[in-house]
Amino acid sequence: MTTGDAGADGAGEGLGERTLWHGRFASGPAEALMAYTVSLPYDRRLAVDDIAGSRAHVRGLVRGELLDGDEASAILAALDQVEEELAGGEFAFVPSDEDIHTAVERRVTEIAGPAGGKLHTGRSRNDQVATDLRLYAKRALTEVAQGVVALQEVLLDRAREAGDAYLPGYTHLQRAQPVLLAHHLLAHGWALARDVDRLLATRDRADVSPLGAGALAGSSLPLDPSGTAADLGFAAVFDNSLDAVSDRDFVAEALFDLALLGVHLSRIGEEVVLWSTEEFGFLKLDDAYSTGSSMLPQKKNPDIAELARGKAGRLIGNLTGLLVTLKGLPLAYNRDLQEDKEPLFDSVDQIVLALQALSGLLATSTFVAEAMADAADSPYSAATDLAEFLVEAGTPFREAHAIVGEIVRTALDGRGTMAELVLAHPALGAEAGALLDSGASVQRRTTRGGAGPEPVAAQFDRFTAQLASDQVRLADGGS
Ligand code: ARG
Repeated sequence: MTTGDAGADGAGEGLGERTLWHGRFASGPAEALMAYTVSLPYDRRLAVDDIAGSRAHVRGLVRGELLDGDEASAILAALDQVEEELAGGEFAFVPSDEDIHTAVERRVTEIAGPAGGKLHTGRSRNDQVATDLRLYAKRALTEVAQGVVALQEVLLDRAREAGDAYLPGYTHLQRAQPVLLAHHLLAHGWALARDVDRLLATRDRADVSPLGAGALAGSSLPLDPSGTAADLGFAAVFDNSLDAVSDRDFVAEALFDLALLGVHLSRIGEEVVLWSTEEFGFLKLDDAYSTGSSMLPQKKNPDIAELARGKAGRLIGNLTGLLVTLKGLPLAYNRDLQEDKEPLFDSVDQIVLALQALSGLLATSTFVAEAMADAADSPYSAATDLAEFLVEAGTPFREAHAIVGEIVRTALDGRGTMAELVLAHPALGAEAGALLDSGASVQRRTTRGGAGPEPVAAQFDRFTAQLASDQVRLADGGS
């Protein structure tokens, strides 16, 4: 990487090199201008998309008879060489390469000679960068969705293995009612299913080609925006050139999808942190997916889960940062839009890593069924079952609630155990007392979508079907 370090001496002096837009300028750009405006350090990763876009543009120029066959062959061969040089790390950047677009075009012109000077015919970096970023976004959203599906598969496997293991379900982080572990794991799986849906919907909306919009207004030349769109595998082509070059909705949507996915991973992370404490003891982390303490020899820390929680802040920051950048921008392209790339790349990179790490963590952790059952078997967790027992015998629910509440209070006051009080109560007795048996309560959650074995078995079928259809959707699109 040479750009950015260029001309480190002599602040404010010209680079002594010419940019691609030098014609109108009497002097070269100041070093401070280049240092501040350069985007090459991060937009290099758009190289494959930039080259794909240029190839399609060249073929469009041939269809419009703006390039002859020899010129097109020379440019396409040069693009092949540029691609190889970039892939092999041999591409020599020069200080005037502001961004990947100028770097590629410069090198094409060096290789192809005069024909290279025709590559940018009818094109602006404004439609070029929007095209590149949409191609990247489609690919990245697909990759992220694949990572989410992989995590869902881990959750599904763990849910299947969980069998009839149960744990307390919580509200307000207070034990509320027992739930099957499978039910709890699938709850996260369903949130992730919505993430997949969102990511793929955003991918569909990003699937519109802006190439041919030019700087802002289209062109007087016979360009072929529909043809280049099809060539690049876009599902649609822009309808309005101003919108095409200034629209970054797809980036904002992607950042939202990634932020919300990050929030879901953060919530999983928080539970892993809690469950792996000695206080809970529901989960034992595999050595390979936990960290030690530099000072405290006994420690085994859930750092992946904590970072999944912590990095959600950064993902939300990337979203809000871009929204603030976009707010108030007049049509059409403004250099502010260059600020779209770093947050997008960062959020994608962070989420891809988080999905891999959390998938590995969840695949290798051990659930401690006894600890979960012990916590869930608190007789107070059966309070709702006792009230529902009374309801089935004809007692209005509000009255039943009061009766059981009083029994709970009496037990908490130390005037008898729940079991004794239930047995002694005229409206409850031995049949109701059986509701306090270990694991009895979770069996009684029988309604659709509920936490007991019957509805969970049906839920497995729906979840598996949803996952299978998302996998098809993933394989279908994402060109
Ligand atoms: N590096 C720029 C970006 O990322 C490319 C577009 C520059 N266009 C321009 N008119 N200066 O947005």
